[in-house]
Amino acid sequence: MASTKPCKNKVQDKVAIVTGGASGIGEATVLALAENGARAVVIADIQDEKGQKLAESIGTNRSTYIHCDVADENQVKSLVESTVQLFGHLDVIFCNAGIASFGEQNVLDFDLDLCDKLFAVNVRGTAACLKHAARAMVDGGVKGSVICTSSAAANMAGDRFTDYIMSKSGVLALMKCASYQLGEHGIRVNCVSPGLVATPLTCKTLEMGVEEVENAFQSCYYLKGVLKAKHIADAVLFLASDDSEFVTGQNLIVDGGFIFQGIPK
Ligand SMILES: NC(=O)c1ccc[n+]([C@@H]2O[C@H](COP(=O)([O-])OP(=O)(O)OC[C@H]3O[C@@H](n4cnc5c(N)ncnc54)[C@H](O)[C@@H]3O)[C@@H](O)[C@H]2O)c1
Repeated sequence: MASTKPCKNKVQDKVAIVTGGASGIGEATVLALAENGARAVVIADIQDEKGQKLAESIGTNRSTYIHCDVADENQVKSLVESTVQLFGHLDVIFCNAGIASFGEQNVLDFDLDLCDKLFAVNVRGTAACLKHAARAMVDGGVKGSVICTSSAAANMAGDRFTDYIMSKSGVLALMKCASYQLGEHGIRVNCVSPGLVATPLTCKTLEMGVEEVENAFQSCYYLKGVLKAKHIADAVLFLASDDSEFVTGQNLIVDGGFIFQGIPK
């Protein structure tokens, strides 16, 4: 009889980078990749202590932390070069580092300097990671997988966080163009779009604790229960693995079927 246990080696021997890997969705994905046989997981973040501890918990032979501010293209270039130098090539990048709006950012009171700061990380940073990872894959003849974090919010309206929603729509557009352009090299590019997960980013933005966020949003899902970072990590694992070898240009929304009722005030 076939086993019903999920396969635990979905990314056997693959070399992966996770940006924003020290916390939240990135951290859960780092752990999922490591548990699923990745040869190496490079954690790229600006939270050095958290990132280093996470790498140590996996084992420094299979994981390493590299400080990388994705808003700085030189740091991104060096991140990808160091990964290839250390582990030979690059199979997977999860372009996940992101930040929330710095304020309300309603259009009538839109601070465009703050919008630029947010775009520097969420859009420009994602583009820089995608560019340098794809170059390394093309140079190395690797039919790799790029996964970018957009958001279920990318297709929604809200009375605030306009720049954040704009940025996540931008990530979707970037993914579409890149998947079209990189297909001839066998490189797949997809997005994962999480619903609301009670990570440090969300809790800080909504000024709520983990339980408070989870309780506030439970009734919004078709599926009963709570959306966790692990659910997003499982979707990323699928897109990183050969299980999705003919999937590209897609946006995988992981939100338990979210009924949008507005971001709580
Ligand atoms: N939590 C949610 O509900 C939710 C929903 C949709 C999309 N997202 C997206 O998921 C991604 C991960 O967010 P999260 O919720 O896990 O938040 P998080 O704050 O727990 O993790 C984000 C990580 O990105 C890192 N980071 C921030 N700026 C960076 C930079 N310039 N360079 C490198 N690293 C940087 C942070 O240090 C942090 O470790 C983000 O892109 C976010 O927009 C989150």
